[in-house]
Amino acid sequence: MTESAMTLTQPAPAAKASPDTQTVTSVTHWTDSLFSFRTTRPQSLRFRSGEFVMIGLPGDNGKPIMRAYSIASPNWDEELEFYSIKVPDGPLTSRLQNIKEGDQIILRPKPVGTLVHDALLPGKRVWFLATGTGFAPFASLMRDPETYEKFDEVIMMHTCRTAEELTYGRELVEGLEQDELFGEIVAGKLRYYPTTTREDSPLMGRITDNLASGKVFTDLGLDPMDPATDRAMVCGSLAFNQDVMKVLEGFGLHEGANSEPREYVVEKAFVGDGV
Ligand code: FAD
Ligand code: A2P
Repeated sequence: MTESAMTLTQPAPAAKASPDTQTVTSVTHWTDSLFSFRTTRPQSLRFRSGEFVMIGLPGDNGKPIMRAYSIASPNWDEELEFYSIKVPDGPLTSRLQNIKEGDQIILRPKPVGTLVHDALLPGKRVWFLATGTGFAPFASLMRDPETYEKFDEVIMMHTCRTAEELTYGRELVEGLEQDELFGEIVAGKLRYYPTTTREDSPLMGRITDNLASGKVFTDLGLDPMDPATDRAMVCGSLAFNQDVMKVLEGFGLHEGANSEPREYVVEKAFVGDGV
């Protein structure tokens, strides 16, 4: 991350004239089922870190296949980044996983979402709670200096089945800590708590269990969540979101929205079968 990139407020001119078509600039495959990619950014696109947009590819019948995707890059970045699942028979990702540098994707430049600072009341600590690709909006928020202006502590809890599935997030956090500029901004503020549930690793267990048992507070030397000081943003499967909401409500936190900021906000990381 360079100083010029961080202080940038206007995205650089995109390579394509049409705001609906963007060029892939790089692709990284993290596991057999996870990859990330970067694209040019339409000059007109302004978004709040944590929001999502619709992206897609042309379909066989000429109708585009569009899906919701969290923007994983922060709002100052001159490019856009996305972090994606590969669903074997998924209409979009069975094809999207084959994209290469120079390819085109469709992007509807209308960002929306609830995982934004505006939907939370001011507080001391913010908890980012994610499973799987639910990490994506936090990849954006963790790289936004506003996050560290608004909160004294930022705790990133990310849980996956295996350690390999944590790699994108782990490398991103390590990159921030080692970055010349961001290193200072996040030092002593960003706490990372990655856990696995189906493979041994240094930290284990579901986010819900580690919060409810108090293990995460003990491990990080923090007081339990308190609605006076703690805020949370949640992004995972519907079941995860529902279960973690119960835990947060148990600590006295209440759900907020853009129109009514409160102590926590939630977004689905994907729409499950039948949901
Ligand atoms: P679909 O037909 O869309 O999905 C097939 C099945 O795959 C689903 O029923 C579900 O069971 C499973 N599935 C879909 N997405 C995921 C996922 N991310 N993790 C685990 N299982 C999944 N996906 C991303 O990969 N990255 C994102 O940043 C992202 N952000 C999203 C934000 C929002 C607000 C929503 C609603 C969804 C988001 N998704 C994201 C999911 C995305 O929209 C697509 O569902 C996904 O890309 C798969 O598309 P598909 O056409 O291949 O399969
Ligand atoms: P677990 O392995 O115990 O099911 P998935 O790959 O199924 O989307 O899950 C991603 C991660 O989220 C896994 O570590 C999984 O734990 C965890 N998880 C799934 N459902 C829940 C839930 N309802 N509450 C808490 N964690 C969950």
